[in-house]
Amino acid sequence: MSNNQEKREAGEAAIQYVEDGAIIGVGTGSTVAFFIDALATMKDRIQGAVSSSEQSTAQLKKHGIPVFDLNATGPLALYVDGADECDTHKRLIKGGGAALTREKIVAQAAQKFVCIIDSSKRVDLLGKFPLPIEVIPMARSLIGREIVKRGGNPVWRDGVVTDNGNWIIDVHGWQIADPVAMETELNQLPGIVSVGLFARRPADVVLIGSKVM
Ligand code: 5RP
Repeated sequence: MSNNQEKREAGEAAIQYVEDGAIIGVGTGSTVAFFIDALATMKDRIQGAVSSSEQSTAQLKKHGIPVFDLNATGPLALYVDGADECDTHKRLIKGGGAALTREKIVAQAAQKFVCIIDSSKRVDLLGKFPLPIEVIPMARSLIGREIVKRGGNPVWRDGVVTDNGNWIIDVHGWQIADPVAMETELNQLPGIVSVGLFARRPADVVLIGSKVM
């Protein structure tokens, strides 16, 4: 079961990685919401943020933190985001909040990715949390069949439209022994926008509550 106190501690502990004058990459979710609240207390020491979702943008703006377009900033020193699962190699499943594509883009642009989680997210093998995949709407059934061929059980997250206008398929029943290989293979399928596996670009630092993993 997820632990709100640990989420708050992780969000607040991530502040130690924020450098003066920086533009911070900001993820999405309830753990990140604690980070954004903590960031607001030192907002005069940073230039602002690049956001991974409309949800985080709204919270950042509410606090008066400037939000920049990634095209205008260039590479970022730091990205802070939560996760749905995290293995011992800091490889992640993300996308529970449907923001995986923009999260992946901002993570890729960052030198350091600090992942903030509570202890319920730590697993030995990725896949108990259904793997989110963002798809172009017309490819939903095509991708569903590709997933079934690979032994997964695809479930359309009906009613959810991503910030990019696409749909989410959650894949149940995969035990992901080689997340890099699976991410690489799924990335090749036309119709998949992005896969919620963050294995090719894992986190650099994981904070479980206030503890560094
Ligand atoms: C959103 C995400 C989130 O980081 C993930 O779902 C964790 O969320 P929370 O911090 O609310 O448990 O990937 O797309």
